[in-house]
Amino acid sequence: MSISKQDVLNALETITVSGEGKNMVDSGAVQNVVTFADEVIVDLKLSTPALHIKKRAEADVKKAIHENVDGNAKVQVNIKIEAPAKPQNPNLIKGKPIKGIQNIVAVASGKGGVGKSTVTANLAVSLSKMGFKVGILDADIYGPSIPIMFDVAMEKPLSVNVEGKSKMKPVENYGIKILSIGFFTQPDQAVIWRGPMAAKALNQLIFDADWGELDFMLIDLPPGTGDIHLSIMQSLPITGAVVVSTPQNVALADARKGVAMFRQENIDVPVLGIIENMSFFTPAELPENKYYIFGKEGAKNLAQDLDVPFLGEVPLVQSIREAGDVGRPAALQTATQIETSFEEITRNVVQETVRRNENLPPTEAIKITTMAGCSAVKK
Ligand SMILES: Nc1ncnc2c1ncn2[C@@H]1O[C@H](COP(=O)(O)OP(=O)(O)OP(=O)(O)O)[C@@H](O)[C@H]1O
Ligand SMILES: [Mg+2]
Repeated sequence: MSISKQDVLNALETITVSGEGKNMVDSGAVQNVVTFADEVIVDLKLSTPALHIKKRAEADVKKAIHENVDGNAKVQVNIKIEAPAKPQNPNLIKGKPIKGIQNIVAVASGKGGVGKSTVTANLAVSLSKMGFKVGILDADIYGPSIPIMFDVAMEKPLSVNVEGKSKMKPVENYGIKILSIGFFTQPDQAVIWRGPMAAKALNQLIFDADWGELDFMLIDLPPGTGDIHLSIMQSLPITGAVVVSTPQNVALADARKGVAMFRQENIDVPVLGIIENMSFFTPAELPENKYYIFGKEGAKNLAQDLDVPFLGEVPLVQSIREAGDVGRPAALQTATQIETSFEEITRNVVQETVRRNENLPPTEAIKITTMAGCSAVKK
């Protein structure tokens, strides 16, 4: 008797491809199933080129069919990779390129210490693994931590000549180009910045640097929602912002202020979504247990309340902290729960960026006309 196609589909519904969220039938990863006598051919479409995910998907399909349908079935799995669409910068479409930088995504939080820099670093790595060209601009004037998280704290950007102009060359590690305000300030030296000063310095780091072609530039913003943020946001053509929060009430209150800041009339930067960091703790020796130390699903509920997309959750894991401290972001490791969490978040960020660029005009940089940056005139 021939194997039933429906039985095969039922078996495939038990499998979730890493980072896809839904089971492989509902997510659309299963493109076609053909059965003939004891042979089964499954065509899959995956969006991640990572070899271990392809291998795992193939092994999972064979196992599910052998265990649930027919132990002797001859299973052939064909996998096609279809990388997520590259978000096109509407500026380019309108003929106003921002020097090869397609999308500028600001990472903000409101409250300090909730994991903005950690999320920025891992998001960058995860985007790069998906094949995007990525740069990070560390704009945290109070405590730039990206150089440490990428093990480049001792490096200094070189100067290069581009078409007769001297430009800064971003430092590079793990395929990510990096410029940090920390490369130009002394460690341990408190820097007093006013908004327009910070905005000017960051403008130079973007426009007087040789970034080359970037699909994404991530900006690690300083914590808070003050004058400095207004100036930074108004002076740069930011595609969208993601807001990081822990599920804790005090962090959520500040995240709410963060979203409100982006939505302010004289800023008007689209919020791509909220990422929940330190969502739960799972001890290595009890992998099934989840402890909701900072509360449960707070950021998810906030996203719903504010009507912005929820981009995903990052667990509280010792190795994430350790990886940051030694300068090798945790998402670089393959086949881990951390990699999967960041993959899912990254996929959502890309999707929301594509959606934003399809639906909204480019964000304009605004010329600051007063020191406080409160009254501003569009260019
Ligand atoms: N998911 C996580 N699991 C474990 N440790 C984490 C996690 N996220 C962040 N951390 C740790 O928490 C600390 C604060 O994180 P991070 O520096 O990324 O926060 P931040 O929001 O950028 O802080 P600041 O407001 O000072 O810029 C760091 O030591 C980091 O390693
Ligand atoms: Mg930080």
